[in-house]
Amino acid sequence: MAKKIVAGNWKMNKNLQEGIELAKELNEALTADKPNCGVIICTPFIHLAKVSEIINHNVINLGAENCADKEVGAFTGEVSAEMVKSTGAEYVILGHSERREYYNETPEILKEKVDIALANGLQVIFCIGESLAQREANEQNAVVKAELEGSVFHLTEEQFKNIVIAYEPIWAIGTGKTATAEQAEEIHAYIRSVVAEKYGKAVADETSILYGGSCKASNAPELFAKPNIDGGLIGGASLKTADFKGIIDAWKK
Ligand code: 13P
Repeated sequence: MAKKIVAGNWKMNKNLQEGIELAKELNEALTADKPNCGVIICTPFIHLAKVSEIINHNVINLGAENCADKEVGAFTGEVSAEMVKSTGAEYVILGHSERREYYNETPEILKEKVDIALANGLQVIFCIGESLAQREANEQNAVVKAELEGSVFHLTEEQFKNIVIAYEPIWAIGTGKTATAEQAEEIHAYIRSVVAEKYGKAVADETSILYGGSCKASNAPELFAKPNIDGGLIGGASLKTADFKGIIDAWKK
């Protein structure tokens, strides 16, 4: 059975003080009422070191939202995987559609980032998902398969065990338009079958496949009830403790 996970992606929200406040609140809430799943918060780089000190890492894990495609050196403005790891973070999100679209991150660049992140002991939340036009052309399966082949299927089986997959249909991100639980389940099952073809059924069954895109407390129970949906990657609803905890609590239903 794959590990159940609810991960938050703060994106470019919260200044340092606000981020600390949110991490404190969440840590208190989840210490008082232990989650039934893994919980990860992925924050902007500037929050990582402070938030790492605040949270109980037995209850909440920490991740970055990106890292550099180079190890070290003269790359002004970049933050390396090693730097991320040194803050106490355990995860990094790679391949988010916003990075692919607005910062031109290609499959080749993402492959470099994945390799460097794993080499530095980070686990990777690797995002895949189709655009609205691709969904309307019924190309979603080909798109997600190509995204996996392009950036993570060169990994050995041992390395691949450090990958969490997040399926995020671009048309559902921040739009309030969630994929139906049936639509999500259908493509999650497909994604698991593609992983099984590459790494075998045992590895596929252990791979956490998260859904992302307008996931909230009201629709999480239905999504998480599906056999191939192992949790969620949450944007907007991870920015308030009550909203995020509402989703985490879906694993208690
Ligand atoms: P929303 O939950 O705001 O739709 O964002 C999803 C997402 O992109 C998480 O990475």
